[in-house]
Amino acid sequence: MDTIHIRGARPLKGAIQISGAKNAALPLMTAALLTDEALTLTNVPQLTDVRSLIRLLGVLGSEIERVTGPHGDALTIRTATIRSTTAPYEIVSQFRASFWVLGPLVARCRTAKVSLPGGCAIGARPVDLYIKGLQKMGAEIDLVDGYVLANAPEGLKGAIIRLPIVSVGVTHTLMMAATLADGETIIENAAREPEVADLANCLVAMGARIQGIGTSTLRIEGVERLHGATHRVISDRIEAGTYAIAAAMTGGDVTLAGVEPEIFEAALSLLRAAGVGVDARQGEVRIFRNGERLQATNAVTQVYPGFPTDLQAQFMALMTTAAGESEITETIFENRFMHVQELARFGADISLHGDKALVRGVEKLKAAPVMASDLRASAALVIAGLAAEGETAINRVYHLDRGFERIEQKLCACGAEIWRAKAS
Ligand code: EPZ
Repeated sequence: MDTIHIRGARPLKGAIQISGAKNAALPLMTAALLTDEALTLTNVPQLTDVRSLIRLLGVLGSEIERVTGPHGDALTIRTATIRSTTAPYEIVSQFRASFWVLGPLVARCRTAKVSLPGGCAIGARPVDLYIKGLQKMGAEIDLVDGYVLANAPEGLKGAIIRLPIVSVGVTHTLMMAATLADGETIIENAAREPEVADLANCLVAMGARIQGIGTSTLRIEGVERLHGATHRVISDRIEAGTYAIAAAMTGGDVTLAGVEPEIFEAALSLLRAAGVGVDARQGEVRIFRNGERLQATNAVTQVYPGFPTDLQAQFMALMTTAAGESEITETIFENRFMHVQELARFGADISLHGDKALVRGVEKLKAAPVMASDLRASAALVIAGLAAEGETAINRVYHLDRGFERIEQKLCACGAEIWRAKAS
Protein backbone atom coordinates (compact mmCIF):
# COMPACT_ATOMS: atom_id res chain seq x y z
CA MET A 1 0.00 0.00 0.00
CA ASP A 2 1.19 3.52 -0.81
CA THR A 3 2.35 5.89 1.91
CA ILE A 4 2.27 9.68 1.85
CA HIS A 5 5.21 11.50 3.39
CA ILE A 6 5.14 15.11 4.45
CA ARG A 7 7.98 17.29 5.75
CA GLY A 8 5.91 19.84 7.61
CA ALA A 9 6.03 23.28 9.24
CA ARG A 10 6.03 25.23 5.97
CA PRO A 11 3.35 27.76 5.05
CA LEU A 12 1.33 26.95 1.95
CA LYS A 13 1.54 29.78 -0.57
CA GLY A 14 0.04 29.98 -4.02
CA ALA A 15 -3.13 28.99 -5.84
CA ILE A 16 -5.14 25.77 -5.93
CA GLN A 17 -7.67 24.89 -8.60
CA ILE A 18 -10.67 23.18 -6.99
CA SER A 19 -12.03 20.13 -8.80
CA GLY A 20 -15.59 19.09 -9.55
CA ALA A 21 -17.44 17.72 -6.54
CA LYS A 22 -17.15 13.98 -5.95
CA ASN A 23 -20.47 13.96 -4.11
CA ALA A 24 -22.20 15.63 -7.04
CA ALA A 25 -20.46 13.68 -9.81
CA LEU A 26 -21.38 10.27 -8.38
CA PRO A 27 -25.18 10.72 -8.18
CA LEU A 28 -25.11 12.55 -11.53
CA MET A 29 -23.46 9.51 -13.09
CA THR A 30 -26.17 7.22 -11.71
CA ALA A 31 -28.80 9.52 -13.27
CA ALA A 32 -27.50 8.45 -16.68
CA LEU A 33 -29.34 5.14 -16.10
CA LEU A 34 -32.67 6.97 -16.35
CA THR A 35 -32.42 7.53 -20.10
CA ASP A 36 -31.43 5.62 -23.24
CA GLU A 37 -29.82 8.80 -24.58
CA ALA A 38 -26.35 10.14 -23.78
CA LEU A 39 -25.67 12.15 -20.64
CA THR A 40 -22.46 14.16 -20.83
CA LEU A 41 -20.96 15.39 -17.57
CA THR A 42 -18.06 17.82 -17.52
CA ASN A 43 -15.74 18.84 -14.65
CA VAL A 44 -15.77 15.25 -13.37
CA PRO A 45 -12.88 14.70 -10.93
CA GLN A 46 -10.33 11.91 -11.42
CA LEU A 47 -10.97 9.78 -8.35
CA THR A 48 -11.13 6.12 -7.43
CA ASP A 49 -14.84 6.33 -6.61
CA VAL A 50 -15.56 7.73 -10.08
CA ARG A 51 -13.57 4.88 -11.66
CA SER A 52 -15.43 2.32 -9.54
CA LEU A 53 -18.79 3.76 -10.56
CA ILE A 54 -17.75 3.67 -14.23
CA ARG A 55 -17.10 -0.03 -13.69
CA LEU A 56 -20.51 -0.56 -12.09
CA LEU A 57 -22.35 1.36 -14.83
CA GLY A 58 -20.51 -0.81 -17.36
CA VAL A 59 -21.83 -3.94 -15.65
CA LEU A 60 -25.37 -2.52 -15.82
CA GLY A 61 -25.06 -1.82 -19.55
CA SER A 62 -23.75 1.76 -19.95
CA GLU A 63 -21.22 2.67 -22.58
CA ILE A 64 -18.88 5.31 -21.30
CA GLU A 65 -16.53 7.61 -23.11
CA ARG A 66 -14.05 9.56 -21.09
CA VAL A 67 -12.11 12.58 -22.30
CA THR A 68 -9.43 13.79 -19.93
CA GLY A 69 -8.99 17.53 -19.61
CA PRO A 70 -6.62 19.72 -17.56
CA HIS A 71 -9.41 20.43 -15.08
CA GLY A 72 -11.50 17.29 -14.80
CA ASP A 73 -12.82 14.82 -17.29
CA ALA A 74 -15.81 14.85 -19.60
CA LEU A 75 -17.79 11.64 -19.29
CA THR A 76 -20.39 10.65 -21.83
CA ILE A 77 -22.59 7.87 -20.53
CA ARG A 78 -25.06 6.17 -22.80
CA THR A 79 -27.30 3.37 -21.53
CA ALA A 80 -29.26 2.32 -24.61
CA THR A 81 -30.47 -0.76 -22.77
CA ILE A 82 -30.00 -1.97 -19.24
CA ARG A 83 -28.11 -5.23 -19.55
CA SER A 84 -28.31 -6.23 -15.89
CA THR A 85 -30.38 -4.92 -12.99
CA THR A 86 -27.99 -6.39 -10.41
CA ALA A 87 -25.43 -4.15 -8.73
CA PRO A 88 -22.95 -6.63 -7.26
CA TYR A 89 -21.51 -6.71 -3.76
CA GLU A 90 -17.90 -6.53 -5.07
CA ILE A 91 -18.44 -2.97 -6.25
CA VAL A 92 -21.26 -1.59 -4.05
CA SER A 93 -19.40 -2.59 -0.89
CA GLN A 94 -16.57 -0.22 -1.81
CA PHE A 95 -18.40 3.10 -1.72
CA ARG A 96 -21.84 4.15 -0.69
CA ALA A 97 -22.90 6.23 -3.68
CA SER A 98 -23.04 3.10 -5.85
CA PHE A 99 -26.11 2.03 -3.84
CA TRP A 100 -27.92 4.99 -5.42
CA VAL A 101 -28.33 3.11 -8.73
CA LEU A 102 -31.31 1.54 -6.91
CA GLY A 103 -33.62 4.49 -7.69
CA PRO A 104 -32.89 4.80 -11.43
CA LEU A 105 -32.92 1.01 -11.96
CA VAL A 106 -36.30 0.40 -10.35
CA ALA A 107 -37.74 3.51 -12.05
CA ARG A 108 -36.60 2.45 -15.51
CA CYS A 109 -36.73 -1.36 -15.30
CA ARG A 110 -39.32 -1.86 -12.51
CA THR A 111 -36.89 -4.22 -10.83
CA ALA A 112 -33.47 -3.96 -9.20
CA LYS A 113 -31.16 -6.05 -7.07
CA VAL A 114 -28.57 -3.93 -5.33
CA SER A 115 -26.08 -5.06 -2.72
CA LEU A 116 -26.26 -3.39 0.67
CA PRO A 117 -23.66 -0.62 0.60
CA GLY A 118 -20.25 -0.11 2.18
CA GLY A 119 -18.33 3.15 2.25
CA CYS A 120 -16.52 5.03 5.00
CA ALA A 121 -16.80 3.43 8.45
CA ILE A 122 -18.27 6.45 10.22
CA GLY A 123 -21.40 4.97 11.77
CA ALA A 124 -24.12 2.37 11.27
CA ARG A 125 -25.41 4.04 8.09
CA PRO A 126 -28.67 2.07 7.71
CA VAL A 127 -30.80 2.02 4.53
CA ASP A 128 -34.26 1.95 6.15
CA LEU A 129 -35.32 5.30 4.71
CA TYR A 130 -34.47 4.25 1.15
CA ILE A 131 -36.64 1.16 1.62
CA LYS A 132 -39.58 2.98 3.22
CA GLY A 133 -39.51 5.69 0.55
CA LEU A 134 -39.56 3.22 -2.35
CA GLN A 135 -42.27 1.17 -0.62
CA LYS A 136 -44.40 4.30 -0.42
CA MET A 137 -43.95 4.63 -4.16
CA GLY A 138 -45.37 1.14 -4.63
CA ALA A 139 -42.21 -1.00 -4.75
CA GLU A 140 -42.07 -4.32 -2.97
CA ILE A 141 -38.78 -4.64 -1.16
CA ASP A 142 -37.09 -7.76 0.15
CA LEU A 143 -33.70 -8.20 1.74
CA VAL A 144 -32.09 -11.43 0.55
CA ASP A 145 -28.48 -12.53 1.06
CA GLY A 146 -27.23 -9.00 1.62
CA TYR A 147 -29.07 -7.59 -1.38
CA VAL A 148 -32.01 -5.21 -1.61
CA LEU A 149 -34.54 -6.61 -4.08
CA ALA A 150 -36.98 -4.00 -5.35
CA ASN A 151 -39.90 -4.82 -7.61
CA ALA A 152 -42.61 -2.57 -8.96
CA PRO A 153 -44.30 -4.61 -11.71
CA GLU A 154 -46.87 -1.89 -12.35
CA GLY A 155 -44.24 0.86 -12.22
CA LEU A 156 -43.58 3.35 -9.42
CA LYS A 157 -46.38 5.68 -8.29
CA GLY A 158 -46.13 9.23 -7.02
CA ALA A 159 -46.34 9.55 -3.22
CA ILE A 160 -45.98 12.01 -0.39
CA ILE A 161 -42.85 11.09 1.54
CA ARG A 162 -41.83 12.91 4.69
CA LEU A 163 -38.28 12.00 5.68
CA PRO A 164 -37.89 11.70 9.47
CA ILE A 165 -34.29 12.85 9.18
CA VAL A 166 -32.50 14.70 6.41
CA SER A 167 -30.60 12.29 4.19
CA VAL A 168 -28.61 13.24 1.12
CA GLY A 169 -28.58 9.76 -0.42
CA VAL A 170 -32.26 9.09 0.22
CA THR A 171 -33.18 12.43 -1.38
CA HIS A 172 -31.00 11.64 -4.43
CA THR A 173 -32.50 8.17 -4.78
CA LEU A 174 -36.17 9.04 -4.33
CA MET A 175 -35.88 12.13 -6.52
CA MET A 176 -34.41 10.09 -9.36
CA ALA A 177 -37.02 7.36 -8.89
CA ALA A 178 -39.83 9.95 -8.91
CA THR A 179 -38.81 11.47 -12.25
CA LEU A 180 -40.26 8.44 -14.10
CA ALA A 181 -43.04 7.55 -11.63
CA ASP A 182 -46.73 7.84 -12.43
CA GLY A 183 -48.01 11.09 -10.88
CA GLU A 184 -46.56 13.58 -8.42
CA THR A 185 -44.11 12.80 -5.64
CA ILE A 186 -43.53 15.23 -2.81
CA ILE A 187 -40.40 14.76 -0.72
CA GLU A 188 -40.68 16.71 2.54
CA ASN A 189 -37.67 17.38 4.75
CA ALA A 190 -35.49 16.77 1.69
CA ALA A 191 -31.74 17.42 1.85
CA ARG A 192 -30.81 20.92 0.63
CA GLU A 193 -27.14 20.15 0.00
CA PRO A 194 -25.81 21.85 -3.16
CA GLU A 195 -25.05 18.40 -4.59
CA VAL A 196 -28.78 17.56 -4.40
CA ALA A 197 -29.63 20.78 -6.23
CA ASP A 198 -26.97 19.97 -8.82
CA LEU A 199 -28.55 16.58 -9.47
CA ALA A 200 -32.02 18.16 -9.65
CA ASN A 201 -30.82 20.76 -12.17
CA CYS A 202 -29.31 18.03 -14.34
CA LEU A 203 -32.53 15.99 -14.15
CA VAL A 204 -34.49 19.06 -15.26
CA ALA A 205 -32.09 19.44 -18.21
CA MET A 206 -32.93 15.79 -19.01
CA GLY A 207 -36.64 16.63 -19.11
CA ALA A 208 -37.68 15.99 -15.49
CA ARG A 209 -40.27 18.23 -13.84
CA ILE A 210 -38.98 19.27 -10.42
CA GLN A 211 -40.03 22.20 -8.29
CA GLY A 212 -38.53 23.46 -5.05
CA ILE A 213 -34.90 22.82 -6.01
CA GLY A 214 -32.64 23.94 -3.15
CA THR A 215 -35.50 23.86 -0.63
CA SER A 216 -36.60 21.17 1.79
CA THR A 217 -39.76 20.35 -0.20
CA LEU A 218 -39.25 18.82 -3.61
CA ARG A 219 -42.22 18.29 -5.94
CA ILE A 220 -41.54 15.93 -8.79
CA GLU A 221 -44.09 15.33 -11.53
CA GLY A 222 -43.26 12.03 -13.21
CA VAL A 223 -42.75 12.05 -16.99
CA GLU A 224 -42.89 9.24 -19.58
CA ARG A 225 -39.21 9.43 -20.47
CA LEU A 226 -36.06 11.48 -19.93
CA HIS A 227 -33.64 12.47 -22.65
CA GLY A 228 -29.93 13.21 -22.93
CA ALA A 229 -28.25 16.40 -21.69
CA THR A 230 -24.91 18.03 -20.98
CA HIS A 231 -24.21 19.18 -17.46
CA ARG A 232 -21.21 20.67 -15.61
CA VAL A 233 -20.55 19.25 -12.13
CA ILE A 234 -20.42 21.93 -9.39
CA SER A 235 -17.16 22.62 -7.60
CA ASP A 236 -16.17 20.56 -4.59
CA ARG A 237 -16.99 22.56 -1.44
CA ILE A 238 -15.38 19.90 0.77
CA GLU A 239 -12.12 19.93 -1.18
CA ALA A 240 -12.19 23.75 -1.08
CA GLY A 241 -12.85 23.77 2.67
CA THR A 242 -10.05 21.25 3.21
CA TYR A 243 -7.45 23.38 1.40
CA ALA A 244 -8.75 26.51 3.15
CA ILE A 245 -8.13 24.79 6.49
CA ALA A 246 -4.70 23.57 5.34
CA ALA A 247 -3.74 27.13 4.37
CA ALA A 248 -4.95 28.44 7.72
CA MET A 249 -3.21 25.67 9.66
CA THR A 250 0.18 26.36 8.09
CA GLY A 251 -0.10 30.15 8.38
CA GLY A 252 -0.09 30.39 4.61
CA ASP A 253 -1.68 32.50 1.92
CA VAL A 254 -3.59 30.52 -0.68
CA THR A 255 -6.10 31.46 -3.34
CA LEU A 256 -8.68 28.80 -4.11
CA ALA A 257 -9.78 29.09 -7.73
CA GLY A 258 -12.90 27.74 -9.41
CA VAL A 259 -14.97 27.78 -6.23
CA GLU A 260 -18.47 28.90 -5.33
CA PRO A 261 -17.82 30.63 -1.95
CA GLU A 262 -21.52 30.76 -1.07
CA ILE A 263 -21.75 26.96 -0.91
CA PHE A 264 -19.07 26.65 1.79
CA GLU A 265 -19.91 29.81 3.68
CA ALA A 266 -20.47 27.89 6.94
CA ALA A 267 -16.84 26.75 6.87
CA LEU A 268 -15.57 30.20 5.88
CA SER A 269 -17.43 31.87 8.73
CA LEU A 270 -15.92 29.41 11.25
CA LEU A 271 -12.48 30.20 9.86
CA ARG A 272 -13.15 33.93 10.23
CA ALA A 273 -14.28 33.34 13.81
CA ALA A 274 -11.00 31.54 14.50
CA GLY A 275 -9.03 34.55 13.21
CA VAL A 276 -8.26 33.42 9.67
CA GLY A 277 -8.26 36.01 6.90
CA VAL A 278 -10.90 35.19 4.29
CA ASP A 279 -11.39 37.23 1.16
CA ALA A 280 -14.23 35.72 -0.87
CA ARG A 281 -15.23 36.96 -4.29
CA GLN A 282 -16.96 35.44 -7.27
CA GLY A 283 -15.17 32.22 -8.23
CA GLU A 284 -12.22 32.75 -5.85
CA VAL A 285 -11.40 32.73 -2.16
CA ARG A 286 -8.13 33.93 -0.63
CA ILE A 287 -7.23 32.40 2.75
CA PHE A 288 -4.42 34.02 4.78
CA ARG A 289 -3.07 34.43 8.28
CA ASN A 290 -1.43 37.45 9.88
CA GLY A 291 0.98 35.39 11.98
CA GLU A 292 -1.06 35.48 15.17
CA ARG A 293 -2.17 32.27 16.83
CA LEU A 294 -5.69 31.12 15.95
CA GLN A 295 -8.46 31.26 18.54
CA ALA A 296 -10.23 28.12 19.71
CA THR A 297 -13.69 28.05 18.09
CA ASN A 298 -16.58 25.67 18.69
CA ALA A 299 -18.15 23.83 15.78
CA VAL A 300 -21.33 21.76 15.39
CA THR A 301 -21.91 19.70 12.28
CA GLN A 302 -25.30 20.26 10.67
CA VAL A 303 -27.09 19.54 7.45
CA TYR A 304 -26.69 22.20 4.75
CA PRO A 305 -26.43 25.16 5.07
CA GLY A 306 -24.79 24.32 8.40
CA PHE A 307 -21.17 23.29 8.93
CA PRO A 308 -20.65 20.01 7.02
CA THR A 309 -19.71 16.76 8.74
CA ASP A 310 -17.30 16.17 5.84
CA LEU A 311 -15.11 19.02 7.20
CA GLN A 312 -15.32 18.09 10.87
CA ALA A 313 -12.07 16.10 10.99
CA GLN A 314 -10.14 18.78 9.11
CA PHE A 315 -11.47 21.55 11.39
CA MET A 316 -10.50 19.49 14.42
CA ALA A 317 -6.95 19.28 13.07
CA LEU A 318 -6.94 23.08 12.81
CA MET A 319 -8.12 23.50 16.37
CA THR A 320 -5.31 21.31 17.78
CA THR A 321 -2.93 24.30 17.72
CA ALA A 322 -5.44 27.11 18.40
CA ALA A 323 -5.25 29.07 21.66
CA GLY A 324 -7.77 27.71 24.17
CA GLU A 325 -10.33 24.91 24.20
CA SER A 326 -12.76 24.18 21.44
CA GLU A 327 -15.74 21.85 21.49
CA ILE A 328 -16.56 20.02 18.29
CA THR A 329 -19.95 18.31 18.12
CA GLU A 330 -20.78 15.69 15.50
CA THR A 331 -24.55 15.44 14.96
CA ILE A 332 -24.76 13.58 11.62
CA PHE A 333 -22.81 10.35 12.14
CA GLU A 334 -22.40 8.53 15.44
CA ASN A 335 -18.87 7.25 14.92
CA ARG A 336 -16.99 9.93 13.07
CA PHE A 337 -14.12 10.50 15.47
CA MET A 338 -11.64 7.88 14.21
CA HIS A 339 -9.13 10.66 13.52
CA VAL A 340 -8.92 11.62 17.20
CA GLN A 341 -6.46 8.91 18.19
CA GLU A 342 -4.36 9.55 15.10
CA LEU A 343 -4.24 13.31 15.76
CA ALA A 344 -3.06 12.45 19.28
CA ARG A 345 0.06 10.89 17.70
CA PHE A 346 1.03 14.38 16.57
CA GLY A 347 0.77 15.54 20.19
CA ALA A 348 -2.79 16.90 19.96
CA ASP A 349 -4.75 17.01 23.21
CA ILE A 350 -8.30 15.80 22.50
CA SER A 351 -10.81 14.01 24.71
CA LEU A 352 -14.08 12.45 23.58
CA HIS A 353 -17.40 12.85 25.40
CA GLY A 354 -20.19 11.13 23.45
CA ASP A 355 -20.86 13.18 20.34
CA LYS A 356 -18.41 15.90 21.43
CA ALA A 357 -14.66 16.23 21.18
CA LEU A 358 -12.91 18.67 23.47
CA VAL A 359 -9.74 19.99 21.86
CA ARG A 360 -7.18 21.76 24.04
CA GLY A 361 -4.87 23.68 21.77
CA VAL A 362 -1.15 22.89 22.01
CA GLU A 363 1.71 25.13 20.82
CA LYS A 364 2.94 22.82 18.08
CA LEU A 365 2.37 19.45 16.47
CA LYS A 366 5.21 16.98 15.98
CA ALA A 367 5.44 14.61 13.01
CA ALA A 368 4.40 10.99 13.50
CA PRO A 369 3.58 7.81 11.60
CA VAL A 370 -0.22 7.65 11.30
CA MET A 371 -2.96 5.60 9.69
CA ALA A 372 -5.81 6.94 7.55
CA SER A 373 -9.15 5.49 8.69
CA ASP A 374 -11.60 7.11 6.26
CA LEU A 375 -11.65 9.66 3.50
CA ARG A 376 -12.06 12.94 5.40
CA ALA A 377 -10.06 11.70 8.40
CA SER A 378 -7.16 11.18 5.98
CA ALA A 379 -7.40 14.80 4.94
CA ALA A 380 -7.19 15.84 8.59
CA LEU A 381 -3.96 13.85 8.92
CA VAL A 382 -2.50 15.55 5.85
CA ILE A 383 -3.38 18.94 7.37
CA ALA A 384 -1.74 18.00 10.69
CA GLY A 385 1.31 16.67 8.83
CA LEU A 386 1.66 19.91 6.86
CA ALA A 387 1.86 21.86 10.12
CA ALA A 388 3.89 19.39 12.20
CA GLU A 389 7.64 19.67 12.69
CA GLY A 390 9.48 16.74 11.14
CA GLU A 391 8.50 14.03 8.69
CA THR A 392 5.06 12.44 8.87
CA ALA A 393 4.20 9.16 7.14
CA ILE A 394 0.51 8.48 6.42
CA ASN A 395 -0.45 4.88 5.75
CA ARG A 396 -3.57 3.53 4.01
CA VAL A 397 -3.80 6.52 1.70
CA TYR A 398 -6.15 4.77 -0.71
CA HIS A 399 -8.89 6.51 1.29
CA LEU A 400 -7.54 9.88 0.12
CA ASP A 401 -7.58 8.84 -3.52
CA ARG A 402 -11.31 8.21 -3.27
CA GLY A 403 -12.00 11.90 -2.75
CA PHE A 404 -9.06 14.21 -3.42
CA GLU A 405 -7.82 14.64 -6.97
CA ARG A 406 -4.04 14.97 -7.32
CA ILE A 407 -3.64 16.07 -3.71
CA GLU A 408 0.17 15.87 -3.64
CA GLN A 409 0.53 17.90 -6.85
CA LYS A 410 -1.87 20.58 -5.65
CA LEU A 411 -0.07 20.94 -2.31
CA CYS A 412 3.43 20.76 -3.85
CA ALA A 413 2.51 23.65 -6.12
CA CYS A 414 1.95 25.71 -2.96
CA GLY A 415 5.36 24.85 -1.52
CA ALA A 416 4.49 21.77 0.53
CA GLU A 417 7.05 18.99 0.78
CA ILE A 418 4.76 16.04 0.22
CA TRP A 419 5.40 12.89 -1.76
CA ARG A 420 4.07 9.41 -2.22
CA ALA A 421 6.06 6.25 -1.69
CA LYS A 422 4.60 3.58 -3.95
CA ALA A 423 4.12 0.17 -2.42
CA SER A 424 6.57 -2.25 -3.91
C1 EPZ B 1 -23.64 11.73 1.92
O1 EPZ B 1 -23.71 10.44 2.49
C2 EPZ B 1 -22.20 11.95 1.55
N1 EPZ B 1 -21.77 10.95 0.60
C3 EPZ B 1 -21.33 11.90 2.79
O2 EPZ B 1 -19.98 12.19 2.43
C4 EPZ B 1 -21.81 12.97 3.77
O3 EPZ B 1 -21.05 12.89 4.95
C5 EPZ B 1 -23.29 12.77 4.08
O4 EPZ B 1 -24.05 12.74 2.84
C6 EPZ B 1 -23.86 13.86 4.95
O5 EPZ B 1 -23.69 15.11 4.35
C7 EPZ B 1 -21.89 11.16 -0.70
O6 EPZ B 1 -22.45 12.15 -1.15
C8 EPZ B 1 -21.33 10.14 -1.62
P1 EPZ B 1 -26.94 10.69 4.70
P2 EPZ B 1 -25.11 9.75 2.78
O7 EPZ B 1 -27.89 9.65 4.22
O8 EPZ B 1 -26.08 10.18 1.76
C9 EPZ B 1 -28.81 8.41 8.44
C10 EPZ B 1 -17.70 11.73 2.12
O9 EPZ B 1 -16.74 11.76 2.93
N2 EPZ B 1 -29.61 7.52 7.55
O10 EPZ B 1 -27.28 12.12 4.44
O11 EPZ B 1 -24.84 8.30 2.93
C11 EPZ B 1 -27.31 8.15 8.36
O12 EPZ B 1 -26.94 7.02 9.10
C12 EPZ B 1 -19.02 11.11 2.52
O13 EPZ B 1 -17.62 12.19 0.97
C13 EPZ B 1 -30.53 6.65 8.14
O14 EPZ B 1 -30.68 6.60 9.35
O15 EPZ B 1 -25.47 10.37 4.17
C14 EPZ B 1 -26.77 9.46 8.90
O16 EPZ B 1 -26.77 9.42 10.30
C15 EPZ B 1 -18.96 10.44 3.85
N3 EPZ B 1 -31.25 5.82 7.31
C16 EPZ B 1 -27.78 10.49 8.40
O17 EPZ B 1 -28.93 9.75 8.00
C17 EPZ B 1 -31.12 5.84 5.96
O18 EPZ B 1 -31.81 5.07 5.28
C18 EPZ B 1 -27.33 11.34 7.23
O19 EPZ B 1 -26.72 10.49 6.26
C19 EPZ B 1 -30.19 6.74 5.39
C20 EPZ B 1 -29.46 7.57 6.21
